[in-house]
Amino acid sequence: MELNILTLCYLIASVTFILGLKMLSNPATARKGNLVAAAGMTIAILGTIFLYRDQEGNKLHNYIWIFGGILIGAVVGTLAAKKVKMTAMPEMVSLFNGMGGACAALISAAEFYHIYKAHEGAGTTPFSDLVPVGYYITIVAGAIIGTISYTGSIIAWGKLNGRVKDFSFRGQHIVNMIVLALVIVFSVVAYQSSIGSIFIPFMLIGLFAFVYGILFVMPIGGADMPVVISLLNSFTGVAAACGGFLYDNKAMLTGGILVGAAGTLLTILMCKAMNRSLANVLIGSFGSNAKTGTGAARQQGAYKEISLSDTAVVMSYAHKVFIVPGYGLAVAQAQHACHELEKILESKGVEVKYAIHPVAGRMPGHMNVLLAEADVPYEKLLEMEQANEEFPTTDVVLILGANDVVNPAAKNDPSSPIFGMPILDVELAKNVIVNKRSMKPGYAGIENDLFFQPKTSMLFGDAKKVLQDLIGEIKNL
Ligand code: TAP
Repeated sequence: MELNILTLCYLIASVTFILGLKMLSNPATARKGNLVAAAGMTIAILGTIFLYRDQEGNKLHNYIWIFGGILIGAVVGTLAAKKVKMTAMPEMVSLFNGMGGACAALISAAEFYHIYKAHEGAGTTPFSDLVPVGYYITIVAGAIIGTISYTGSIIAWGKLNGRVKDFSFRGQHIVNMIVLALVIVFSVVAYQSSIGSIFIPFMLIGLFAFVYGILFVMPIGGADMPVVISLLNSFTGVAAACGGFLYDNKAMLTGGILVGAAGTLLTILMCKAMNRSLANVLIGSFGSNAKTGTGAARQQGAYKEISLSDTAVVMSYAHKVFIVPGYGLAVAQAQHACHELEKILESKGVEVKYAIHPVAGRMPGHMNVLLAEADVPYEKLLEMEQANEEFPTTDVVLILGANDVVNPAAKNDPSSPIFGMPILDVELAKNVIVNKRSMKPGYAGIENDLFFQPKTSMLFGDAKKVLQDLIGEIKNL
């Protein structure tokens, strides 16, 4: 009976994960979706703690360890989530993803240890005679993928907060492949080893997977980091699903598969948005062309500036205005001022829309979340393809703290590190006004031809201050 209730708990949890994921696809329901999935996870955890029985019918008993761990995790998680700034969210996601990978790897290690303990006396019997190959692959896959996800995510976390610098060397591809090959070789060797001598090859699997995770992320820099984090996220999902198989835990299995599939889809979508092939990601040394591209060093001509009062006039008498938000808008926390500008322009009969690039900001959906925070209606947010169709009929594009996502070098300059990345074709509009604080480059570290084009005017200053002053000017017109 208790077992059936436990199965029901897992079923409820699995359904809530799917519902939660579905709700996460729309900013209006995302918060609720998160809570629904969290409630399902709570049911699954409590069900496991109080209703789970092993094959001999024993219940879990080490409650102090279990609840002690849950308490520490809950306190750290809550404080971290409350403290983190929106702009530092990718770092936190990366760090927590690494913890998930480590947990999945530890589950595999614990399962391996259980089998080892149970057959300790079997001496020279090969491990392959004691454990079916499918079960062994699940254990080893969980250990390898979880470990790679752990070290890779920790390096990604360090890179995003500036503690770890990009590092690459000639022949890194080959070294990476050798290390990965060693992981596979020792996985085979361990399976053939006797129970008495299996520890060393098993430890070597973990060691090389640990090193591979570091080598894999180390050379990747700049604009390609979001793809890596998403990919590592899918790794953690797969590693957790392996844990679900090992413990016959359906909630863990469903959760792991959903994270793995969602992470993989997101990775593919981001690869497309950043024009990287998945194979290039897996080999683990893209982004290095960012250092060799000549686009970064090119001399530019003169740019022209526009005053606040002129901007106010141009925007107020426009029929259609597009706002392109970017990372700088998030840094300035200017989303509320931006929404106010939109409302005041609309009260003057101007049509206002937002053009959202899939990798604007520093995390997937960053701009959507930011603008949702300021209650900007979701239907005003146009995806890149739709916005690009509308730019030729747009009077003014106002770029707020965006740079790489509007850089025409992605289309025109084959030597540019971002060449091939689909961008917002803002130069098709009649006027382009760019707000940023200086002529400094954006995330990819390269100059932007757009700022020097005849249609473009620069409006320098912090986005929040500029928007507040602009609203004042428009009100006074
Ligand atoms: P960026 O290219 O990084 O440009 C942001 C611009 O904002 C900078 O040039 C900066 O210029 C300006 N800025 C900073 N603070 C400002 C402030 N307070 N007020 C006004 N402007 C400010 O941003 P983007 O166009 O959004 O492109 C995103 C980049 O990040 C892409 O290269 C993307 O690949 C990468 N990336 C994306 C993600 C995801 S998933 N979204 C994750 C990691 C990396 P000043 O310093 O002159 O003000």
